[in-house]
Amino acid sequence: IGPGVIPTGLRIVPHGELTAEEKAKRLAAYAAVDAHVKEHHKVLGIGSGSTVPYVVERLCQEPHCKANSDRWFVPTGFQSKELIVKAGLNLGDVDQFPTIDVTIDGADEVDDELNAIKGGGACQLREKVLAEAATHFIIVADSRKDSKVLGTNWKQGVPIEVAPFAWAKVFVNLQKMGCEKPTLRMGKMKAGPVVTDNGNFVIDAVFSESYMRDPAELLHRIKMLTGVLEVGLFTGMAEAAYFGAPDGTVTCR
Ligand code: 5RP
Repeated sequence: IGPGVIPTGLRIVPHGELTAEEKAKRLAAYAAVDAHVKEHHKVLGIGSGSTVPYVVERLCQEPHCKANSDRWFVPTGFQSKELIVKAGLNLGDVDQFPTIDVTIDGADEVDDELNAIKGGGACQLREKVLAEAATHFIIVADSRKDSKVLGTNWKQGVPIEVAPFAWAKVFVNLQKMGCEKPTLRMGKMKAGPVVTDNGNFVIDAVFSESYMRDPAELLHRIKMLTGVLEVGLFTGMAEAAYFGAPDGTVTCR
């Protein structure tokens, strides 16, 4: 590494032999890119999470994706920005490209109707902006994320991005709303709260199944709380979801 090059330690994909789980993620990512990214798509949204590096890997295998081409890539956060830069692709932003052809993103859980919980990586605000800006929003994940009702596999709760000065008020609002267990997300060393790419905090809110069965209504109620900037419930947004399984199959819904 030479002067002026900042080592972040992020790799595009893991080195060496992939585990069955990683292979499953790669299968889902490759299938989604092959099915939904067309040569005439000039602006792509790149999401966050452990499956997305394989999306970038697949895109790099297409000659017309590389830098100096007329295709641009818009990231949902720090991780995806690094992926784009390290792959040598054209980096764009939503203010340059408020309309995106295809956004491909990971998820924490996806239900039967393609509603999703997102924000395990605290990127839900930018992720939702890029999902909404996209003509086609596609989810990629491994099969553990595929469920009938949100909250069945993802027990951490709904990630809610809040303005730092309002977090305690929103916390109380959520309790009064019926949230079983709101938690202010803390950093790994527990020295302070996780701070998002936008400088905000995240509350993870666990709701019982009766709430989770109607994610659109729950989203609406949480979003009405002043101080809430975005909710990691993505309802009615995804056009398709690809789930890779360790047995080498991919399910598309
Ligand atoms: C980040 C996200 C991610 O897409 C989601 O957390 C899935 O990540 P992983 O594939 O690493 O489990 O929503 O905010």
